[in-house]
Amino acid sequence: MLTSTKKKEEFRDYEAEARSSVKEFYRLNHKNQTLDFVRQKRREFLSLKKSEMGIWEMAQYLNQLVDDSDPDTDISQLGHLLQTSEEIRRAGHPDWFILVGLIHDLGKVLCLYGEPQWAVVGDTFPVGCAFSDKIVYSEFFEANPDSQDEKLSSRLGVYEEHCGLENVLMSWGHDEYIYHVTKDYLPIEAQYILRYHSFYPWHTEGEYNYLTNEQDREMLKWVHKFNSYDLYTKSHEAPDEKSLRPFYENLIGKYFPLKIRW
Ligand SMILES: [Fe+2]
Ligand SMILES: [Fe+2]
Repeated sequence: MLTSTKKKEEFRDYEAEARSSVKEFYRLNHKNQTLDFVRQKRREFLSLKKSEMGIWEMAQYLNQLVDDSDPDTDISQLGHLLQTSEEIRRAGHPDWFILVGLIHDLGKVLCLYGEPQWAVVGDTFPVGCAFSDKIVYSEFFEANPDSQDEKLSSRLGVYEEHCGLENVLMSWGHDEYIYHVTKDYLPIEAQYILRYHSFYPWHTEGEYNYLTNEQDREMLKWVHKFNSYDLYTKSHEAPDEKSLRPFYENLIGKYFPLKIRW
């Protein structure tokens, strides 16, 4: 349900002059997201030794951040998370789906660890194989060293046909991070949403299907379903954090322990 006054085609409008920082963001992102960079960041962060925090605690901690890559929103992070989850809740979806709305961007805490935004947010894409020209600002990949490498710039690159996305390394960012932080506690559909919600080249452009397996194709519908809530809720007024908190603390408690590793 679209209750915002913004028209559908007005979202993700990267041509609009209003946020030129978005273009600069993608210039840096596409230049620096190489296979080596991704491997290094995975080693650095996926051992989850940064902190121990509860989900709600992290949502509040994250609230200091503004996302440069997003042309659509100037609302706070917690505001966006609650808008998304509340819209999912109003539509009558299962509770894990509501919870996904609340936690899907918590991986942006990477920014607060001191990571540059180009290594945290924005659309994601596979590394280690050819960059699709359907990726936003794909012309900037010319400056990426992997695009000069014969193997890494080939269609399959380091992968095999239909190897499955779980075997594909994605550009490093908040999706992969929150997936690893939460995967032991959530159903597979939720894991897919968290891990691939920024993979627009796949879920919206239909690219990279040659890397997907049957499970990926089956789960794509959940990623799609989620995307409409993530995107089209961004113009709402800020939800009332205080009155919503008891509901969400209760929901979090059903799936997560008091503190988890980040
Ligand atoms: Fe996100
Ligand atoms: Fe989001």
